[in-house]
Amino acid sequence: MQQLKKGGFTSSIGFILSAAGSAVGLGNIWRFPYLAAKGGGGLFLLIYIILSLTFGFTLLTTDLAIGRRTGKSSLQAFGEISKKWKFVGPLTFIVPAIILTYYCAIGGWVLKYITVYFTGASAEAAHPDYFGNFISSYAGPIVMMLIYLSITAFIVYKGVEKGVEKFSKIVMPGLIIMIVGICIFTMTLSHDGRSAIDGLKIYIVPNFEGLTFKKFMTILLDATGQLFYSLSIAMGIMITYGSYVSKQDNLSKSITRIEVFDTGVAFLAGLMVIPAVYVFNGTEGLEANGPGLMFKALPQIFNQMGVVGIILGAIFFIMVAFAALTSSVSIMETIVASIMEKTGKSRKQVSLWVGIFAAIGAVIVCLGYNLFMFNITLPNGAQAQILDIADYVSNSVLMPLIAILTSVLIGWVAKPKWIIEELEVSGHKFKKKMLYTVVVKYVAPVMMTILLLQALGVF
Ligand code: PFF
Repeated sequence: MQQLKKGGFTSSIGFILSAAGSAVGLGNIWRFPYLAAKGGGGLFLLIYIILSLTFGFTLLTTDLAIGRRTGKSSLQAFGEISKKWKFVGPLTFIVPAIILTYYCAIGGWVLKYITVYFTGASAEAAHPDYFGNFISSYAGPIVMMLIYLSITAFIVYKGVEKGVEKFSKIVMPGLIIMIVGICIFTMTLSHDGRSAIDGLKIYIVPNFEGLTFKKFMTILLDATGQLFYSLSIAMGIMITYGSYVSKQDNLSKSITRIEVFDTGVAFLAGLMVIPAVYVFNGTEGLEANGPGLMFKALPQIFNQMGVVGIILGAIFFIMVAFAALTSSVSIMETIVASIMEKTGKSRKQVSLWVGIFAAIGAVIVCLGYNLFMFNITLPNGAQAQILDIADYVSNSVLMPLIAILTSVLIGWVAKPKWIIEELEVSGHKFKKKMLYTVVVKYVAPVMMTILLLQALGVF
């Protein structure tokens, strides 16, 4: 990113790919399916898509336009708009710092599942207890996390993100083709009288039966947190990306592309995982699995495919690791670039310190499944360990808070026109002006405040 800053993006496709590389990652493939399963499938999906077209679009537009208009990273951009709002910059810095720690822990899980397919342990990994036994062991998750973190830190340390992005041009389409293929295979599965088609119905048809106000609010909160996480918004990162985009670029067209791509991958990941979980574990499996859902469901699918499943399993987890890497590199890069900007210290020195900080945080997250194991119930009803708490604080508390502050700043202080002008500076018309203005001024501040109160357990 630091290299990019000098010259900016040379083409809008370069920018779209980099932003999509940051957006598409574990959030789409690991996080979305388990939240959709927990939120009852179809209802979660419907709410997510509506939120994506309104909030997602508004906040992604806001972040990118703030970046391009000020030409600054998130740490300084808010102060450029208004001196009094400078404090939002440092606040956006905290979110990636929290996310980086547990992102590396999950990245380590992905690496572990790659090894499973190379060591002939694929049938074992299909056992429902395999995942739990792995994460509750001491050495394995920490070693894998450290390998994953070292790769991320090495890329940032060397400043070679551009190389990784080039690679992701090949990996991304490959990953999507594989996901589609697995989805098709999933549809053929049946077990104990349960068919994948019934699982598909659970995933795409909203079910309002037994829906209470509290449950609805929980789904809304989970879907909003997921949207922020998945699009990498309300955490400063897209502001920094925006500052690299050329003034000639048709920003609103790029925004639509990033959004469609990110939501599309999440939708497909759900289609691959949810019907399979239903087939093997029934509705109870959908509700009870939590963050381990993908790691339990996919080995079961691959195991059904015989020898082909071993090869596909290996390729699939390698591709997921690449998608995750482009995201974790973007998270770490934001942190490193901000500290470099502030302190003037070298990239190598800062990368090392951030790497050590992330390693300490991630070790604590890993130990949350053994040494520091406890169970608390979060206001969203989930049983939580350290990883879930870190996830909840960043996605359900801090991101809504930053979204409220950003939308009040833009809606009422700088005024929506400030963003609209920026989108039209390239000579292209911003067609969703009305929608943008209404959401940024009224809907976002009100809804986000309600959700923040809900996240804090007020009601
Ligand atoms: N959006 C990424 C994903 O869906 O996996 C995760 C992510 C990237 C979160 C960058 C935060 C961030 F700064």
